[in-house]
Amino acid sequence: MQTKKAVLARRPQGEPKVSDFTIVEADLPPLEDGQVLIEVEHLSIDAFIRTTLDGPQGHHGTMDLGTPVTALGVGRVLDSRFDGLQQGDATFGPFGAQTRTVVPGNMLRKLDESAVPARAYLGALGMTTGLTAYAGMICVGEVKEGDTVVVSAAAGAVGCIACQIAKIKGARVIGIAGGQEKCDFLVNEMGCDAAVDYKAGHVAEALAAAAPDGLDLFFDNVGGEILDAALDNMAKGARVVICGAISQYNDLQHVRGPSLYLRIPERNARMLGFTVDHYASEFATMESDLAGWIADGKLSMPEHIVEGIEQFPDAIVMLMNGGNRGKLLVAP
Ligand SMILES: NC(=O)c1ccc[n+]([C@@H]2O[C@H](COP(=O)([O-])OP(=O)(O)OC[C@H]3O[C@@H](n4cnc5c(N)ncnc54)[C@H](OP(=O)(O)O)[C@@H]3O)[C@@H](O)[C@H]2O)c1
Repeated sequence: MQTKKAVLARRPQGEPKVSDFTIVEADLPPLEDGQVLIEVEHLSIDAFIRTTLDGPQGHHGTMDLGTPVTALGVGRVLDSRFDGLQQGDATFGPFGAQTRTVVPGNMLRKLDESAVPARAYLGALGMTTGLTAYAGMICVGEVKEGDTVVVSAAAGAVGCIACQIAKIKGARVIGIAGGQEKCDFLVNEMGCDAAVDYKAGHVAEALAAAAPDGLDLFFDNVGGEILDAALDNMAKGARVVICGAISQYNDLQHVRGPSLYLRIPERNARMLGFTVDHYASEFATMESDLAGWIADGKLSMPEHIVEGIEQFPDAIVMLMNGGNRGKLLVAP
C-alpha cells in the first residue's frame, strides 16, 4: 500500500511558495497491533500551519524538512488492529499532508456522522475553527446582546463562525475582510450588519463610520495595522480578544505590536489572548451548542475544497493570500 505526501522541501522565507514543498510517494509499513490504516478524506488548511514551517522560532512548534506538512484531518479506516475502530469508521486525527497513513488507534477520535458529514469536525465543529471561534467569542470575549462586535479576517474559517456566533448572541456585527466581494458575502450570507474592506485603506475611518459609538468587542485574527485601527475605535470598557495575528506569520522574527496600546488604559479596555486547547474541558459543551445551532439553521460553514494532495502547497499559499472564503480544505 502506498501513500502520497506533501512534504516541506525548504523553510519559506517570508510568504510561502509552492516551490517550498514537494510531493513524494512512499510505501506504508504493515499494520502492527494497536494501529489503523487510514484513507485521508479531508485535510484542514489552518493559519497555524504557516508558523510550523519555520524553524524552532515558530510559535506553534516546528516540523522537520522532508516530513509531511503538519495538518489535522478526517479519514476513513481501511484496516484496523485497534479494538476501538473498525473498517469504515470515520476518524479525526493529526494525519499530516498525505493520502493514507498508519497511526496508533488511540490517537484518533471516532466521529459521529449521523447529523453532519465527517469534514464538519474540521470546520464548524473543528477545534481550530468552530471551537476556536466559540472560545474566543463566548468564553474570552463574553459577547452579549447589544454589543457592537468587530471581527477581522471575518470571511475566513474562524471569522465566519465568530461573526455568526456574535449574531446568535444578539450583537451588531461588523466584519473586516479583503475586497468588496468578501464584504458583500459577509453582509448577504453571513448575516453581518456591515463590512469593511481593509484593502480599500482607511480602516480606522471606515470602522468609525460603521460603529459611531465605538466597538465593544474586537475579535482579532489579523494583528498589525488592523489591530491599531480597532484599538482607535474602542468604546469605554471594550474587550479585545487576540485569537491570532496572520498578518505577522510570514515574519515572526519581526512581529509588529500595536502602536495604539495606550487606548487600552484610556478607554478602560481589556486585551486578552487565548489558545483553544486551554478550553479543552469545555469542548463537549461547545460542540453541542454549535451542533444545535447548525441543526436549527442558525449556523453554517461555507467551505472551499481543493482536490488532490498535489494542490496542498497551493492551498497553503491561498490561505495566506486570502484566496479562501470560509473553511479551506484539501481532499487528497
Ligand atoms: N487562538 C487559537 O487557539 C487559534 C486557533 C485556530 C486559529 N487561530 C487563528 O485564527 C485566525 C484565522 O485562521 P484560519 O485558519 O481560520 O484562517 P482563515 O481565516 O480561513 O484564512 C486566513 C485569512 O486571513 C486573511 N489574511 C491573510 N493575510 C492577511 C493580512 N496580511 N492582513 C489581513 N488579512 C489577512 C485572509 O483573508 P482576507 O482576504 O480578508 O485578507 C485569509 O483568508 C488566524 O490568526 C489563526 O492563527 C487561533
